[in-house]
Amino acid sequence: MPLRQPPLPGQIGRGPAPKFVAKRASRGPGGRSAKPLENANFWKNGRSGRIRTCDPCVPNAVLYRAEPHSDKRPAYSVGFGAPQAAELRNFVPVKTGLETLILPAGEAGAEAAARVLAAGGLVAFPTETVYGLGADAANATAVAHIYSAKGRPAFNPLIAHVPDLAAARRIGRFDARALRLAEAFWPGPLTLVVPKTDDCPVSDLATAGLDTVAIRVPAHPVAEAILRAFGGAVVAPSANISGHVSPTLAAHVESDLAGRIDLIIDGGPVAVGVESTIIGCFEAPMLLRPGGLSRERIEAVLGAPLARPPVEADSDDSQPLAPGMLASHYAPRANVRLHAQDVAPDEALLAFGPARLPGVETAAAVMNLSPAADLDEAAANLFGYLRSLDAKAPRAIAVMTIPEEGLGEAINDRLRRAAVAR
Ligand code: TXA
Ligand code: MG
Repeated sequence: MPLRQPPLPGQIGRGPAPKFVAKRASRGPGGRSAKPLENANFWKNGRSGRIRTCDPCVPNAVLYRAEPHSDKRPAYSVGFGAPQAAELRNFVPVKTGLETLILPAGEAGAEAAARVLAAGGLVAFPTETVYGLGADAANATAVAHIYSAKGRPAFNPLIAHVPDLAAARRIGRFDARALRLAEAFWPGPLTLVVPKTDDCPVSDLATAGLDTVAIRVPAHPVAEAILRAFGGAVVAPSANISGHVSPTLAAHVESDLAGRIDLIIDGGPVAVGVESTIIGCFEAPMLLRPGGLSRERIEAVLGAPLARPPVEADSDDSQPLAPGMLASHYAPRANVRLHAQDVAPDEALLAFGPARLPGVETAAAVMNLSPAADLDEAAANLFGYLRSLDAKAPRAIAVMTIPEEGLGEAINDRLRRAAVAR
C-alpha cells in the first residue's frame, strides 16, 4: 500500500501502552492495532524510500530507509508504519510515565547505571562537556528509546562513548592522523568520525546507516566509571529534549526528561559546557562541529588547517555529515538577538566581558558569561545561563558580541542556532 502522507519520524512508543498511542488509535487510521507496513514505499521531503520493520518490541515502530541520492548514502529514520491523517502530523509528546531515579555519582551509582544500560534502559550521566543520555550502543531497541525520549529527528547519528582508545579501536578504524588526534586529546572533548570496523557492534540505527562511526572518550571520572562498569560502547546524545539547550546540570536533565528515562546520575556541574568538537577523519580531516576543543589546538597537532564541511552538510533534505548542525538547534523559548549594542527593558541580557551596555540597569535580567572575557569560562556558563534567562520569559535574549577565537567559535555556533527564527 503506497503511503499518501509522509510518516512522522522520530516517534516511537515505549512500554506497554503509551498514552499517545491510544490517542492515535481513537483519532486516526494510524492506531495501535494497525499492522506495520513492510517494504512499502514512502515519500518525505520529496525523497522516496522503503519501509523496513524495526524491532517488534516497539509498538508499530518501523525503520524507514530513504534511498540515496546520487552518490549519497541511504538515510534511516524511525517512525510509525501506518499512514497518518493530516491533523495527526504534528509532534505529539511521548508520555512514558517512567519513574526516573536520580542517584548521586559514586560506585553504587555507576553499578546501577551499568545494570540499567545492560537491561536496555536509558541513563543520563555527566561528561566533561554536557550531560549525555546513554543507551547500550549495540541494542537497537534501547537506541530507539533515546530518539523517542528526546523527540529527536531520527536521522541524527549518535556518538559512541568508550573508556579508552583500545575500546575505540574495536569499533572504529583509525588511520595515522586519527590516532595522532586520539593520542593527543583523549580522554577529552573531541569526537572522531572514522570508518566502522567489520564487526563494529554499534547498531545501524545509532549510526543512521552510515559506514562511519563517531567515537569519543570522555574526560569525566563518572562517565569513565559507568563505561568501565558497563563494558560496552554507550551512545549518548546530550540529555535534553531535541532542540532544547544542552544540560550542564543534573537538574536540567530532570526538567527535560523526568518520566521519560530510567536513571539520572548526578555528578554536579560539568566543566566544559559545550559539546565535543567533531572531526571527520576523512581524506582531509574536517571540522564537522566546533566544540569544547578549539580548532587551533587540533590544527597544531595535525600541522595543517582543518577542512570545512561542504555547504550541503547543513541542509536537512540530504544526509548531513553532522546533522547536529541543523538550523534551530539549541533553542531557548525566547527569541535570541545577537551582537546587541543595547538592551530593552523587556529583554534579558547575556553579557560577555567587562563592558556595560546602554539599558543594562533596566533589563529584565542580566547574566554575564565571563566578566573577565575568558572564553573557556563563557563556554561552561553558556547553556545554564541561557536556560536561566529563558526561565524569566523575556521578550528576547540580547547577546553581546563574543570573539570568534578559541572556544568562541563553538559558543557563536550554538548562539547562531539559538537565534534562528522558529
Ligand atoms: O559532547 C558531546 O559530544 C555530547 C556528550 C554527551 O558526549 N554528545 C553530543 O551528542 O553532543 P549529539 O548526539 O548531540 O551530537 C552528535 C553529533 C551530531 O551532530 C551527529 O550528526 C554527529 O555527531 N555524528 C554522529 N555520527 C556521525 C557520523 N558517522 N558522521 C558524521 N557525523 C556524525
Ligand atoms: Mg545535542
